[in-house]
Amino acid sequence: MKTRKNILLLTLVLALSFVLAACGSNNNTVGTTSSADETETATETLQTEESSENESEEQEITETDVNDGNVLVAYFSYTGNTEEVAQMIAEYTGSDLAEIERAEEYGNLQEEAEVEILDGVHPEITVSVDNIEGYDTIFVGYPIWWDEAPAMIATFLADNDFSGKTIIPFCTSSSDDIGNSLHIFSELCPDAEIAEGLTANNLNDIEPWIQGLGLME
Ligand SMILES: Cc1cc2nc3c(=O)[nH]c(=O)nc-3n(C[C@H](O)[C@H](O)[C@H](O)COP(=O)(O)O)c2cc1C
Repeated sequence: MKTRKNILLLTLVLALSFVLAACGSNNNTVGTTSSADETETATETLQTEESSENESEEQEITETDVNDGNVLVAYFSYTGNTEEVAQMIAEYTGSDLAEIERAEEYGNLQEEAEVEILDGVHPEITVSVDNIEGYDTIFVGYPIWWDEAPAMIATFLADNDFSGKTIIPFCTSSSDDIGNSLHIFSELCPDAEIAEGLTANNLNDIEPWIQGLGLME
């Protein structure tokens, strides 16, 4: 009788330990799997965040390059009017500015400047930006002098290779429009595309013109 009781007790103890062992190992497995899953998910999230950060960084660099690297506003200005227009264009388009200056100042502007234009002289100039040919679109601005562009503009067009680039002329004047001055662009840059220019005497005309060109920043 006592032996039978002992066997029953032993059987119960064995069954209980089996059940407990099974539960324990089951818990362990779930725990391990769950924590591995969490780690994996966290890693994936981190990688996704990192890669999307990198993508947006890349996008920013590309956009910056497009806005700052491809459009230039080059101008010559004697009394500041054309410079003001050039600054507005640069602001609207988010582009760089390059000032064109005559290397030597005129002794007598009225006597020297007109002869220079009529004779097709290219006086020496300085330009505040070196890599002109690194730009694809170049605004070129100047004051009208004797219904023409000052000779420094002819030098600028002749000194650089604008083949395959787009040139966008603009001017300021007291009354004449840009039309008569435009011939030097096709003469000196036959392989460039010359966009329709603007006589920018009314500053309100500038923004819609830039919008029409599709170059608003
Ligand atoms: C030497 C000289 C010649 C000019 N010739 C003309 C001209 O033929 N037609 C005209 O409408 N304005 C003429 N102007 C006026 C300028 O084109 C105008 O004042 C222009 O806005 C000046 O630009 P800036 O301040 O950038 O030099 C002349 C001005 C100068 C100094």
